[in-house]
Amino acid sequence: MNNIRNLTDDLYYIGVSDRKIALFENVYPVKDGMSYNSYFLNDDKTVLFDTVDKSCSGQFFDNLDAVLNSRTLDYLVINHLEPDHSALIKDVIQKFPNLKIVCNQKAKQMLYQFFEFENDIEDNFHIVKEGDSIVVGKHTLTFYMAPMVHWPEAMVTYDSFNKTLFSADAFGSFGAINGNIFDLEVDFIERVSEYRRYYSNIVGKYGMQVNMLLNKAKNLDIKMICPLHGLVIKDNIGLLLNKYELWANYTPERDSVLILYASVYGGTQNAVEILAGELSKLGVKNIKMHDVSHINSSFVISDIFEYSKIVFASTTYNNSIFVKMENIINDVIHHNIQNRKIAIIENGSWACCCGDLIRDSLSKLKNITFIEGKINIKSSLKKSQKEDIENLAKELV
Ligand code: FEO
Repeated sequence: MNNIRNLTDDLYYIGVSDRKIALFENVYPVKDGMSYNSYFLNDDKTVLFDTVDKSCSGQFFDNLDAVLNSRTLDYLVINHLEPDHSALIKDVIQKFPNLKIVCNQKAKQMLYQFFEFENDIEDNFHIVKEGDSIVVGKHTLTFYMAPMVHWPEAMVTYDSFNKTLFSADAFGSFGAINGNIFDLEVDFIERVSEYRRYYSNIVGKYGMQVNMLLNKAKNLDIKMICPLHGLVIKDNIGLLLNKYELWANYTPERDSVLILYASVYGGTQNAVEILAGELSKLGVKNIKMHDVSHINSSFVISDIFEYSKIVFASTTYNNSIFVKMENIINDVIHHNIQNRKIAIIENGSWACCCGDLIRDSLSKLKNITFIEGKINIKSSLKKSQKEDIENLAKELV
């Protein structure tokens, strides 16, 4: 049975939600599932915007058959070739051998990387470049390249009739669609944290490229955003654009302290608990603390995009940084975090070295201010070090 939704008179949502998936991209926990969004435009020509993940093929083709209603498919627009959106392209082409595949040259090259075609499909391609348009009836579709948001072939499509932006991975979120397809049908503010976690982990590394896309979007009159994951955005376009501008420029949203700690026998934890209390006494609100052994790093990356000041507190392990903290630090570096104030607390019962190693690693990031004079703990914090913790709290505020 099909499960399609009208977005306008002639634009349909034909995407699918996956509620069995545990790890999106085999790395990001998605306890609320994941949606793979696909859209269908029913004009003089019929247009499909992207497909869905292979795991959802049954529902997708039921939906596609329903919206086509015995018409043929004229155009398949490939905004993004990552397999969560492209897995069914080969099946679509086999079903509609005369359709035109609208994509850029890079997407065409990647299509041949992911698929082997039994038939020659060279004549099916309609290759587009920046600013090219196709007219499909009353709708005109214009294509804008969005390289590295999130893969090099990514592009977005603007429909000037509906003033709709098909935004590929941009403006997406983790989480399945629970019946409510539009942002105005949910408490959107509650969802922002998952938009942040999605953005920071999926495209957070590519702030410069996201800024290029935002500059293009500023020249378009956008009334609706149709991303490849998550809700269709109508009411919160301004809010999301503002968030993206902050995130793309690595500008903290919250002036507060995020404490990340790795503790084996509690000595390091004791120190950061005391630090958090001192921060609170000084008036810092919304202090957040994570034991890095018990949290998936995607949540930490998301919080680092939000918070202005980060404390890294770790024990020394195998003559290095405790492995869980080392993993987090590597992830932070890979996501290109910038513009943060950082404090370091190190612990070691002998040959303590992790503080300097943490600082060396994080020094690769741009515009980082380190609070000088790391706190060194030998196994457990001593009463004589209480003043050091108080001073660190003062430095942080
Ligand atoms: Fe949802 Fe980059 O794919």
